[in-house]
Amino acid sequence: MSVLVTGGTGYIGSHTCVVLIEAGYDVIIADNLYNSKLDVLDKIESITGKKPKFYCADVSNKEELDVIFKENKIDSILHFAGYKAVGESVGVPLKYYRNNLLGTIALAECALEYQVPKFIFSSSATVYGDGSVPYRESNPLLPSTNPYGETKVMSERILSDTAKVNPGLSVTLLRYFNPIGAHKSGLIGEIPVGTPNNLMPYITQVAKGKLAKLRVFGSDYDTVDGTGVRDFIHVVDLAYGHMAALEKMKQGVNVYNLGTGKGTSVLELIHTFQNVNNITIPYDIVDRRPGDVASSYADVSKAWEELGWKTEKSVEDMCRDSWFFEKNQ
Ligand code: NAD
Ligand code: UFG
Repeated sequence: MSVLVTGGTGYIGSHTCVVLIEAGYDVIIADNLYNSKLDVLDKIESITGKKPKFYCADVSNKEELDVIFKENKIDSILHFAGYKAVGESVGVPLKYYRNNLLGTIALAECALEYQVPKFIFSSSATVYGDGSVPYRESNPLLPSTNPYGETKVMSERILSDTAKVNPGLSVTLLRYFNPIGAHKSGLIGEIPVGTPNNLMPYITQVAKGKLAKLRVFGSDYDTVDGTGVRDFIHVVDLAYGHMAALEKMKQGVNVYNLGTGKGTSVLELIHTFQNVNNITIPYDIVDRRPGDVASSYADVSKAWEELGWKTEKSVEDMCRDSWFFEKNQ
């Protein structure tokens, strides 16, 4: 079984490549290295003993994709490649619409043209907007507060509409909650460019002394301690979720939440990080960040019932592995 992994040198893609290679899949990566480095391939090889075939290609460019599909018989596409900085997408919407939508369209065209039966897309809990928790797959898709989120909703529609009228193509939309953590080897993990926007990379950089202090955005939400609540999921659990989705894919259009089903507040995450790693994280409580929801966590029963997949790692594991990776940088 050969799997084309777009964005395979990135954070979630690289962990998924490891899991797939270890399970015996033939992995081919397409990434333009916009937000990742080529040495991730060596790291994947150190972990698995096998270096995946790599194409430095822009997935929004159909001609570059044609080369890959002509040279390889691809059985499945896992489409991770895209831009993901929510704040940046507000300032430069066209950059996000162009890259994220044209990538999805060009890959869907290739799936039809080269008769690839399975397509998995990296979607996000952001498609639920500010709806009521826990989020269920059947919830309505709400307008997003940012163009990044809109590209996820639109990509879901593009792929669903395509699969509905092309019975040879099945599509699975995976809505991730908040991936954190890293591979236990400390070799691969999340490497943010510039100052991190997301909570865990910010915490690890404060722990390392690269940043002075964490800002906790808001303490007046209607949550357990007033700070935001998120469903943090270990990136390795998330990677296994992709393999389960690939192996159990049903004909047509499938949608699954990939989360733990448990909410953890920002303060709870900070305290767990401090306890398991024995490090103090200085922080200030500041105003809410515009666009943030109070609580976001998944109903994960569908993924468990239909895919037989469940997360195994704890918030402690996530904090330990995130710090181990950061220390190795
Ligand atoms: P990442 O930035 O680490 O990885 C994305 C990879 O895609 C990078 O290696 C980048 O170089 C590549 N890429 C971007 N545009 C490309 C293009 N046009 N052609 C080829 N390669 C391109 O991000 P990630 O955290 O691994 O996220 C992977 C996917 O999951 C993204 O689609 C993201 O939107 C989605 N997602 C991420 C999160 C999260 O919190 N990390 C949450 C929900 C959904
Ligand atoms: N937070 C802080 N301080 C920081 C960073 C974040 O207090 O420096 C808080 C936020 O206010 C929020 C929580 O930590 O309450 C999580 O924030 P993140 O930025 O880590 O994650 P988000 O839930 O805002 O968004 C992430 C991804 C999105 C994705 C969404 C759902 O960045 O792309 O999860 O999957 F859409």
